[in-house]
Amino acid sequence: MKILVLGGGGREHTICYKISQSLKLDKLYCIPGNGGISEIAEIPEGISSLDFAKIAEFCKKNQIDFIIPGPEEPLVKGIKDYLEKEGIKVFGPDKVASLVEGSKAFAKEIMVKAGIPTAKFEIFDEPSKARSYVEKKGAPIVVKADGLCAGKGVFVCETKEEAFSAIEKIMEEKIFGESGNKVVIEEKLVGEEATFIVITDGETFKSLPNSQDHKRLLDNDEGPNTGGMGAYSPAPVITPQLKERIEKEIIEPLLKTLAREGHPYLGFLYAGLMIVNNRDPYVLEFNCRLGDPEAQVILPRIGNDFLELIQFTFEGKLSEVEITESSGAAVCVVMASKGYPGAYEKGKKIEGLEKASQISGVIVFHAGTTKKNGEFYTSGGRVLGVTALDKDIPSAIEKAYKAVSLISFEGAHYRKDIGHKAFKHLKPR
Ligand code: AMP
Ligand code: GLY
Repeated sequence: MKILVLGGGGREHTICYKISQSLKLDKLYCIPGNGGISEIAEIPEGISSLDFAKIAEFCKKNQIDFIIPGPEEPLVKGIKDYLEKEGIKVFGPDKVASLVEGSKAFAKEIMVKAGIPTAKFEIFDEPSKARSYVEKKGAPIVVKADGLCAGKGVFVCETKEEAFSAIEKIMEEKIFGESGNKVVIEEKLVGEEATFIVITDGETFKSLPNSQDHKRLLDNDEGPNTGGMGAYSPAPVITPQLKERIEKEIIEPLLKTLAREGHPYLGFLYAGLMIVNNRDPYVLEFNCRLGDPEAQVILPRIGNDFLELIQFTFEGKLSEVEITESSGAAVCVVMASKGYPGAYEKGKKIEGLEKASQISGVIVFHAGTTKKNGEFYTSGGRVLGVTALDKDIPSAIEKAYKAVSLISFEGAHYRKDIGHKAFKHLKPR
C-alpha cells in the first residue's frame, strides 16, 4: 500500500514508525514531516497539510491508498469531506463528527443527548450572560473557548475574578479569534485524569491501551499547560472494571448517537477523562485523533500490523481483529525548547540521539527537528519524545531518563517526574 500521513510532530513520527514496520507497506509519504520522519518516509516539498487541493493532486499522481491525518486541524476543516469527493480515502471522521473536538459546545450537547457523564455546564454567546452565570455559580469554575485553540482555550479558575478575566480574553479581546464566539462554562471536577482512545468504524470499536499524559510544564503539575510533557501506558487508574464502564457509558453511546445523526465516526476517537473518587469516569473532552504524546506510548505497545488494523476498520471488519497489547509498560519523556510553551528558541544542534537509541527498548521520536547535512537541529517547541519500553512503569521510567541523559541541546527542558502518578496505584516492588 501507498500511504500519506499528515502532520509533523511526535505523534506523526510514531504513526510513521508503526506504518514503516507493516508488511503491507510499499511507500510512505508524510506532509510536512520533520527531521526524524524524513528517515523513514518521503517528504514531498512545497505542500502544506491544509492545502487540500494540492494534497488531492499529489494523492492521485502517486496512487495513494489512503491518508492518515495526525492532527485535528485538517479533520475539523473537512479534509475527509473534500478528499472523498475526489475519490481519496481518509482515515478520520468527517467534518461534522470532528466537531466532537472542533466545538466544545457541540461536544457538550452531544454528550447530553447520549447521556454521557460530563461536568455540568452552560453555553454562552454573550459575555454579559457568561459573567452573570459565574456570579451565580461562584468559583472554582472552568471557562472554555468553544473552538480550536491549540490546547490553550481552557481556563480552570480558582476565583470569580479569574473567570471574568477568561471571559474577557476569550469573548471580548478575542485572543483565539472566532474560536471565542461562544464559551462553555462548567463545574470543576476533581480527580485523576486519564486518556482512553479507541479505533472505530462508527459501529464497532476496539480500545487501544490506555494512558496518562502530563499537561503542565513543570514537575508536580505546576506551571502553564502545554501540549503534553510526557506520557505513560498503561494507566493503572483505569482498572479492568473501569475500562468496561468507559466503553459502555461513554464510547458506545457517543458512537451510536453520531451514527444516528448521520455522521458515523471513522478513525481514532480520544476521550480525555477525569476519574472522580477513583471510581467514576467523566468526560473532560473528546479529540478526533490520537493524543500527542499519548501515541508515543500507546502505539509501540500494540503488536498489530498498523496498516492491517486500519484496512480492517475501513472494510468494516474490526470485529475480526483483537488488539494485542504488550504486557509491559511504556514511558515517554518530552524534551522541549527553552521558552516553550511561549516563544521558544530554534536551530540548536541536538547531540546524543544515536547513543540514546542504542539502548534496547528505547525509541526517540522527533517532534520538532530538522535534518541538515546529517545533523539534527531543534525546530519546534516540543523537540523529542523519548520513549522507553520495559517490564513495568518504574523500569520504563528509569530507562527513559537514562536515554534522556544521553541527549542534549542548548536550553533543553524536561520534567523529572513523568510516570510518578502511577506509583500510588502500583504494588511496591
Ligand atoms: P480540555 O482541553 O477540555 O481537556 O482541558 C484541558 C485541561 O483542563 C484538562 O486536561 C484538565 O486538566 C483541565 N480541565 C478541563 N475541564 C475541566 C473540569 N471540568 N474540571 C477540572 N479540570 C478541567
Ligand atoms: N496530549 C493531549 C492531546 O493530545 O490532546
